Amino acid sequence: MSLQKIQSVRGMNDILPDEAEFWELLEETLRRWLKMYGYRPLRLPIVEPTPLFKRAIGEATDIVEKEMYSFIDSLNGEALTLRPEGTAGCARAVIQHNLAAQHAQRLYYFGPMFRHERPQKGRYRQFHQVGVEAFGFPGPDVDAEQILMGARLWNDLGLPDISLQLNTLGQAAERSRHRAELIAYFEDHRLHLDDDAQRRLHSNPLRILDSKNPTMQALIDGAPRLFDHLGEQSLAHFSSVQQVLRDAGVPFTLNPRLVRGLDYYNLTVFEWVSDRLGAQGTVCAGGRYDGLVQQLGGKPTVACGFAIGVERLAALLRDADGEVKALPVDVYLVHQGEAASRLAARVAENLRDHGLDVLFHCGGGNFKSQMKKADASGAPVAVIIGDDEAAVGEATFKPLRNDLGTDDGTIDSQRRVKVDQLAEEITQHLFRQDDD
Ligand code: HAM
Repeated sequence: MSLQKIQSVRGMNDILPDEAEFWELLEETLRRWLKMYGYRPLRLPIVEPTPLFKRAIGEATDIVEKEMYSFIDSLNGEALTLRPEGTAGCARAVIQHNLAAQHAQRLYYFGPMFRHERPQKGRYRQFHQVGVEAFGFPGPDVDAEQILMGARLWNDLGLPDISLQLNTLGQAAERSRHRAELIAYFEDHRLHLDDDAQRRLHSNPLRILDSKNPTMQALIDGAPRLFDHLGEQSLAHFSSVQQVLRDAGVPFTLNPRLVRGLDYYNLTVFEWVSDRLGAQGTVCAGGRYDGLVQQLGGKPTVACGFAIGVERLAALLRDADGEVKALPVDVYLVHQGEAASRLAARVAENLRDHGLDVLFHCGGGNFKSQMKKADASGAPVAVIIGDDEAAVGEATFKPLRNDLGTDDGTIDSQRRVKVDQLAEEITQHLFRQDDD
């Protein structure tokens, strides 16, 4: 009897070394970008009490209705959920630790999120977000700043084809007047509603506006618009956000149908969309959620934030750059012979002490086969130690990518170097190639 292989859960992927290395590099870039705007990290639990998401995201949303991985902790009967997003947990942490009591906070988190959706390209059951949240800033300046952050990131990453969709959801009172009108309108046209819309008519009529069903589009186009219910303050907030974007030269499209799939938003909402991602085109999304902290039992604290889907961002970068390559180390260390291998182990550590990334050849083999591996590794330098070299405390320095040349037109050639001068020689070589 053959044992059945155990596979990963559908929609939950292993991130293999080529991709994981690429993610680490991307995360470094993201952390630098977040720091540039004064955001500070926090690390949040992956499991939270189920009522947190029900209260924050909304009982009538797709996420809460059908996408949450919820379970009862068999040890104590507690209702728990794998987080489907990070904003709710972040707001919970802000309340629990009184983080925004003294002054406003700019916070971010990285990590896996879980939604039981139908997997397809760009949509997974375990996916990763970088979440960016600002607590305690009431003005439109922070909304605009968060949008400009996105614009800078796409620019820095060489992704010019991500476009901005913008809308305002007004305040709760404005929305409830609009909602009443919307329900009345759709009730008048009940016969033209599809099943989904019928179901949502009273629970979440705003989501009907988001329907992709072509037979409903004419009806949706004629529906009452929230914009007509907005008061002076909401309009001023929205126009101020738009002004900052215009001043900064960031183009946007006003999209009154942008309603978002989570209930906590008010005023500004936005999505960054690319048409290179197929059906799952939104790479980043967010907005203001001034009521959430209070709704979760905290002191009234306004807030605004967004999250980037890491898989989608990585996919965009892969397309722009061709294949994702393994990131090469600086040095491949080749060694043969007993004395040589002992010296090589010390040399590898010493080079690492000097900040160089070193692949130490493991598993033996002759020089020729080791050199093949060194070439394939993509490292710009091989260090070769045989017993001859070891006997005199030297190693052979061999540039592997001489085609790159150096800034002074010379080509570094293979040579013997005292082991205590190796780090310096290699650093100089890498520096000259970088300059080039
Ligand atoms: P969201 O629009 O649900 O918002 O998700 C944000 C981003 O996460 C999406 O634009 C997309 O890039 C990515 N994403 C969502 N679901 C999946 C999936 N199943 N597979 C792959 N990627 C996915 C939120 O989660 C809010 N918490 C954003 C926010 C932060 N609003 C305020 N602060």
